[in-house]
Amino acid sequence: MIYDVIVVGSGIAGLMAAIEAKDENNKVALISKSNVFKSNSSMASGGINAVLDINNTDEINKHIQDTFNSAKGLGNKKAITYMCKQASTIIEKLIEYGVDFDRDENNKILQRPFGGGSSNRTCYVGDKTGSAITLSLIKKARTIGITFLPNNFILNLAKYQDRVSGVVSLNKETSQVMIYSSKSVVLAGGGYAGIYRGYSTNAPDYTGDLLAVALRAGLCLKDMEFVQFHPTGFVKTNYLVTEAARGEGGYLVNSEGNRFIDELETRDKVARAILKEQLEGKKVFIDLRHLGLEKIQQKLPSLYNAALMQSGVELSKELLEIKPVAHYTMGGVDVNMTESDLKGLFICGEMASNGVHGANRLGGNSLLEGCVFGKLAGNKAKEFSKEFEYAPIDYNTVIKDIEMIDFIFSSDTSKNFNAIRISLGKCLFEKAGIIKNEKSLTLAFDYIKYLRQISYTLHCINKEKNNNVELTAILELRNALEISEAIILSAQKRCESRGAHYREDYPETLKKFDKSFVVKELKKGFFKISFKENDLVKKIKNLFINKE
Ligand code: FUM
Repeated sequence: MIYDVIVVGSGIAGLMAAIEAKDENNKVALISKSNVFKSNSSMASGGINAVLDINNTDEINKHIQDTFNSAKGLGNKKAITYMCKQASTIIEKLIEYGVDFDRDENNKILQRPFGGGSSNRTCYVGDKTGSAITLSLIKKARTIGITFLPNNFILNLAKYQDRVSGVVSLNKETSQVMIYSSKSVVLAGGGYAGIYRGYSTNAPDYTGDLLAVALRAGLCLKDMEFVQFHPTGFVKTNYLVTEAARGEGGYLVNSEGNRFIDELETRDKVARAILKEQLEGKKVFIDLRHLGLEKIQQKLPSLYNAALMQSGVELSKELLEIKPVAHYTMGGVDVNMTESDLKGLFICGEMASNGVHGANRLGGNSLLEGCVFGKLAGNKAKEFSKEFEYAPIDYNTVIKDIEMIDFIFSSDTSKNFNAIRISLGKCLFEKAGIIKNEKSLTLAFDYIKYLRQISYTLHCINKEKNNNVELTAILELRNALEISEAIILSAQKRCESRGAHYREDYPETLKKFDKSFVVKELKKGFFKISFKENDLVKKIKNLFINKE
């Protein structure tokens, strides 16, 4: 199947990219791993940051500065400035596509405070902003003729020399390996917080699959040690208690009835403060009772219902117990704005590391980043597809993927791979989570190396080819383990504390670490980790490589 542009990922970044890439003469496909509506974007509740008046340079500069401060020395000024300046245009576009932001009696868009923000700039649709935006973008994409290809699990990129030529995917309904050829590709497959299974707001299948695909294609992963823990998830189900709950005035209290942190501090600080209370044997709760039933139901209706249904807690009368949960990953594929090292391949959204978030992300900036850089990536991919013809597909790599799938079906296994995934999540949370040290990271590394060996011996017990969930589970586990190794290697190297990365054996932030680490796969199973070269050194090296 042939398209001008293929976009992978149906979150906000992917949808925005597909919409921008489409015109009346080209063919654009949007590939997603499962149903189109299922994404972390659609679960993001609290809002999207934007200074609405494009001429209010003071406020825009404050947004830039807050984002830059939150990145703790690893922010990219160009990317941050671009994002914050584009914000009002993005909100206008979203309104044009049908997003109905909450407004006051004068029809002015309402904006709530979010952690780490020096102004109230988070626009919202109750507490279901992400799903409202996602729905409007899906509708728009359908009207303009984008082809949706759900239930496709991307196995690898198709490449020809230094160019992308399409994607190789597994059709989950038939277990067949498919090739989609295209002139350009946008990857927008989301992050890897789902690897912390049992301790994450993400669905368990957010295993960083496309980051593993990028690694195998020779690209570098950057800032992988920076995993953001959202301070407030339901204790039993990990359901997100949106930051809007604190933005609207909610308190955090411990089991002694004391508040112990400024609720609107940045997420890293709040999450650590909560964990500290819990390690001292106290429970932590969110208290919304003083807001009153009417306000809770008006501003936080999804949370109100979820607390009632999942925990039996009526929020206007009772406290809800919470815990910090892995929510977002700042690390991703190293890109310049959206451009990767592979020609014709553009990367955006949570899986890209463009330096907008650095060591820590501001709440409300992820939906904005997805929209802004999704739009940019879509435009770049469209331009590329107009300028260049199709590149050939290297069928040797496709054959390897077919053989790999056949191998997984070829025999039986005695291992319970779901149990392995659960134990991986627990290991990461306990040893490479909110607080880490050299010993915990070494233990995690050894365990992951052991699991990686096992993962290549796994087979499906069920041999049915249609909708075989075991097959996908095995592939996801392999990807999750590759990404886990990249997280741990990076966390071991960063012998300091910065943003979301906290080492109790190195609690200070050190000047010598004012740089990102990048991870590259040298050969299967062997990673190299190094400081990211600055662009000048990279350019000079490339000159020599091109001359040889
Ligand atoms: O708390 C929240 O509603 C999450 C927002 C975000 O991650 O930006």
